[in-house]
This record gives sequence, structure tokens and C-alpha cells, in this order.
Amino acid sequence: MIIAIDGTAASGKGSLAKRLAAALGLAHLDTGLLYRAVGMKVARAGGDPADPALAVAAARSLTDADRAADDLRSDRAAQAASHASALPGVRAALIAFQRDFAHRPGGAVLDGRDIGTVICPDADAKFFVTASAEERAARRHRELIARGETVSLDSVLADLRARDDRDRNRATAPLKPADDAVTIDTTGITIAATVDRALAVLADKGLTGASGVRTDARGSNPLK
Ligand code: DC
Repeated sequence: MIIAIDGTAASGKGSLAKRLAAALGLAHLDTGLLYRAVGMKVARAGGDPADPALAVAAARSLTDADRAADDLRSDRAAQAASHASALPGVRAALIAFQRDFAHRPGGAVLDGRDIGTVICPDADAKFFVTASAEERAARRHRELIARGETVSLDSVLADLRARDDRDRNRATAPLKPADDAVTIDTTGITIAATVDRALAVLADKGLTGASGVRTDARGSNPLK
């Protein structure tokens, strides 16, 4: 089973992907980390992540160690990723890795911006996760503060809007819901409620019963 989850930054798509994967016994790939790793590989070497030659070379030579670097969740990495990911050559270099991951025998959940539209158009289920910009900024701000970064809420909101804009308006694989995606707006709802909604969609499609997830008793899920 392949589940594609796309959505805006800090919408809760990563948390949903992680929990669905755990609940269903599927592997999980946070594809944003690939673009963050590319951007930071260039930035750490003193280059500009928006430079096509540097970014494409970084994407083509990306290693497991690059993907495991400990600075990938930083705000700097988010910005670097946003620029690098707009480059068609960077996106092309990362397609095979993502598709291979998706088609592993046990099945997978992938989250990103173009999973349902470009990477896995034939996914068994597709979700598009969103929330108000203010709520997403507040979430991301809490996360960055907890990580020890000193940023204002206003600057996080401005960065997020700029990133949304770039993600939505780039020429290659822009952020948009697939025609057959189910949209979940997480504004004002908890992660557990978001997971419940997604599990209900999967149950409706007849996908969860076969995977052994209990759909009979709400609240019996150990992740909630
Ligand atoms: O989901 P994230 O915040 O980790 O993503 C970082 C950036 O990478 C984001 O600005 C858009 C880009 N991205 C993308 O273009 N395609 C993906 N599949 C995942 C992320």
C-alpha cells in the first residue's frame, strides 16, 4: 500500500505521515528532508542553494549521511530547501530514490509537496493537509524555540508565507492537491483527530482492514 501525503509547511502532514506509518506498519519517508539535505549540502560548503549547478550536483551525490545531518530541521535548512527544490534538475535527481522507496514490498507512506501529483500518481490513498498560516507559524515557532533558535513569530510567519508562495508558484511540480486527494484542514484540531480522519478515509476505501489496524474501537490505537 502506498499513501501519499502532501501539504503546506507545518500543516501537520509529517506528524500524520509518521503516525499512519506506525499504525499501519508501513515505512515512512519525509521527502522534505531530501530537499533540506540538498540545500544544506550546498550551504555548508559556502554555496548558494539556488545555484542550479551546485544544487543539482549535491542532489546527484546525496548520501545517507547527508540525509541524517543534524541541522536539517533548522530554519536555515528550510529556506535552503525551498530554493533548491524549485530547481527542475534537483527534483529530477531525487525522483528515482522516492519511487524506489514508495514501491518497497512492505508499502510506504511518503509526505511532501508532489507525492500524489508527480512521485506516486497511482498511490492507494492521497491526502492534502493544510491549516491557516497563523496556526502553522505558531506551531513552527514553538518548534524552533524548543530547538533553541531565537526567532520572532512575525519572522516565522513571513518566512512561511514566502515559502508557501515559492512552493505553489514554481514551474516544476508546484504544491497543489492531486485531483483525487482528500483534503484535511488541521486548523484547531489535534494530531490524534487528524489521524482519526485519515484512518476513517482508509477504512472507507477498504484499505485498513487488511493491514490489521483496528478500525472497530476508536481509542484503542496505541498511538493516541
Ligand atoms: O516539508 P518541509 O518543510 O521539510 O519542506 C522543505 C522544503 O522542501 C519546502 O519549502 C518545499 C520543498 N519540498 C518539495 O518541494 N517537495 C517535496 N516533496 C518536499 C519538500
